[in-house]
Amino acid sequence: MTSFDGPPHRLSVAPMMDRTDRHCRYLLRLVAPNAWLYTEMVTAAAIVRGDAERLLAYDDSEHPVAAQLGGSDPSILAAATQTVARAGFDAVNLNVGCPSDRVQAGCFGAALMAEPTLVADCVRAMRKATDLPVTVKTRLGIDEHDSYEFLCDLVAAVEAAGCRTLIVHARKAWLKGLSPKQNRNVPALDYGRVHRLKRDFPNLEVILNGGLDAEAVAIDELEHVDGVVLGRAAYHDPWLLAAIDARLYGGALPDAESVLDALCRYAEAELERGSRLRTVTRHWMGFYAGKPGARRWRRFLGELPDGAAGLRALRNLGSNRNFRGRSGGVTSLEENCGSTPF
Ligand SMILES: Cc1cc2nc3c(=O)[nH]c(=O)nc-3n(C[C@H](O)[C@H](O)[C@H](O)COP(=O)(O)O)c2cc1C
Repeated sequence: MTSFDGPPHRLSVAPMMDRTDRHCRYLLRLVAPNAWLYTEMVTAAAIVRGDAERLLAYDDSEHPVAAQLGGSDPSILAAATQTVARAGFDAVNLNVGCPSDRVQAGCFGAALMAEPTLVADCVRAMRKATDLPVTVKTRLGIDEHDSYEFLCDLVAAVEAAGCRTLIVHARKAWLKGLSPKQNRNVPALDYGRVHRLKRDFPNLEVILNGGLDAEAVAIDELEHVDGVVLGRAAYHDPWLLAAIDARLYGGALPDAESVLDALCRYAEAELERGSRLRTVTRHWMGFYAGKPGARRWRRFLGELPDGAAGLRALRNLGSNRNFRGRSGGVTSLEENCGSTPF
């Protein structure tokens, strides 16, 4: 296929506020060695004026990892992009799709779809500030602006400004009347429109997002687009992400027991660094999604005391494990992640 900016984005996990923090991304990387990971959206102003080191902290294992920025002031975005580049990220992504009120008030996120020239100015300024790929994440439209031509105006503008990779959440956003949560479910998905975009913009890496929650569907979509992005499904069931990663990149599924060991070591190290245990383990709720004992596992995590006592309980998991692969090698998801270690 066409050569785009940087490594291809066949598989990614969506940026999600209050979800894809560095602790979550550490888990995701353990199960999916190749998927692109994204930070939660960070406002460019917060990076420029605030605590960039904390906001952009990540673990070296996370590569390839992109920072997602929110903002609409080209000079502030450019300055934030430089900080992102210095921090060692692999790409910087501009959020042109978030429908929250707070974001609209700052005139960025999805509201920016109505301002293609401004979005292009932002992309141009970010491109000028760095050699990193500058990518854009958007929706199909906003409110009554939901024609294919409206979308194409934006896409043509960002492509002309030097964006080579476009992530499309395949539904529009209703800025008035729907909450951000409703905006992730209520407006209808339209994958066909994203396929058409790929046909009409063949030099753009067009990445599909929205509602992908099954391996077969995600793989089939790659017939039409250059990559797929899973959000909620990857968060709630990291092994779905693992299965797609292994299928696309030809690796074996990681061994669940080793992953859990690594997570426990990570939690211990984080505790020593001063993190609260719960801020790390809250992202592990889906580790046994759909497997025997999943509910007990969630209860165990929910009741996990903070601090050293919680750590002891995690360590004790080691002696309780009962899910070693039956054949010695890891052959299937079922065998690899059969049940919780109780
Ligand atoms: C809790 C939550 C937080 C989100 N935060 C962001 C964000 O910070 N930036 C962004 O571009 N999209 C955000 N999104 C939207 C996701 O990136 C994604 O586009 C959306 O969830 C649709 O994909 P999915 O159906 O695979 O979950 C968020 C979604 C969720 C569920």
